[in-house]
Amino acid sequence: MTVRWGVIGTGGVAHSFVADCTAAGITFVAVGSRSQERSDAFAAEHGIPHAHGSYEALVADDEVDAVYVATPHSRHAEDALLAIGAGKHVLVEKAFTITAAEARRVVDAARRADVAVMEAMWTRFLPQSRMIRQVLAEGRIGRPRVVEATHHQALPSDPAHRLNDPALGGGAMLDLGVYPISFAVDVLGVPTAVSASGTLSEQGVDTQMGVVLTHEGGAQSVLHFALDVRSPNTASVIGEDGRIDVDATWYTPTTWRIRDRDGAVVEEFDGREELAGYAHEARAFEEMVTSGTHEGGPMDPEETVAVMAVMDEARRQVGVRYAADAEPGLEAPPAVP
Ligand SMILES: NC(=O)c1ccc[n+]([C@@H]2O[C@H](COP(=O)([O-])OP(=O)(O)OC[C@H]3O[C@@H](n4cnc5c(N)ncnc54)[C@H](OP(=O)(O)O)[C@@H]3O)[C@@H](O)[C@H]2O)c1
Repeated sequence: MTVRWGVIGTGGVAHSFVADCTAAGITFVAVGSRSQERSDAFAAEHGIPHAHGSYEALVADDEVDAVYVATPHSRHAEDALLAIGAGKHVLVEKAFTITAAEARRVVDAARRADVAVMEAMWTRFLPQSRMIRQVLAEGRIGRPRVVEATHHQALPSDPAHRLNDPALGGGAMLDLGVYPISFAVDVLGVPTAVSASGTLSEQGVDTQMGVVLTHEGGAQSVLHFALDVRSPNTASVIGEDGRIDVDATWYTPTTWRIRDRDGAVVEEFDGREELAGYAHEARAFEEMVTSGTHEGGPMDPEETVAVMAVMDEARRQVGVRYAADAEPGLEAPPAVP
């Protein structure tokens, strides 16, 4: 069965995703935009047959099996629920939603409708991530004790840009911090405690944050992210018998190596494959759709909800509030006393 994709939103990542996936042979049949003109332009650029002038029309398109949501985070829950309500499978850009409570609603709605839902946390589907999980499972660096990761980018400072606007879910954590937090949860499991410290912009969103997560057995993740500075963006997993060092830029296809306890290189890897970055997650999602197995896999929906709960708690400690916080929150890992 060929999965026929529709796209909601015509912004930056929608273009990159569709270009990567088209190059990998994935089939796009429709795009939906709030503007017919933007929809037509996007469809023409990517050779997509149907261009809809609303998101409602896109999800009502009988030829669409799976919808990719590429709108600002503040719309993700609404747009995902729209697609699920029309019986479509839905791949939702990161951050999956604004809050864990929203994420819970989306995941439960997909389960009830028997459609697949997944957060487009593409890093988890890259060959390097699969291999790192295998190296850890084989115990090659001993018990993992520390995850270190950063995500720093110098992004537009325009106050109206979605990254700076609280109404659109602006801030470093939901855009950038979600990568190291999701990586830490992937490697060390859902944390038992969260400690966060950060700086807010005049608009009240986090421009930077340092987060320490404590995991079962006392392992820790030390993470930092910011939307107004640059750094190489590397990551390490430090074990009792060695470590894994992932080179810049750690959350994209890149090179990495295993070192022994003394730092000597044991094995080197190159994860820069021919297959374009976003195609890995899209293929994994298609497999979920065609197999009918909607749970489990590298980005299980329940783990997405857990990551959102960690971010709820970090935001609470730093003082970032969004309109979606008016809804009662889910239980989050406690703050470190
Ligand atoms: N996986 C990745 O590597 C990656 C990279 C970048 C971004 N992202 C994620 O993808 C999502 C979109 O990011 P982006 O950088 O592509 O954003 P963007 O360039 O601003 O595009 C967002 C699109 O959403 C639609 N939209 C609906 N309501 C909107 C509103 N009130 N304001 C602005 N746009 C609105 C617009 O499409 P229409 O006008 O056509 O309806 C717009 O083109 C975010 O959640 C972000 O975290 C992921």
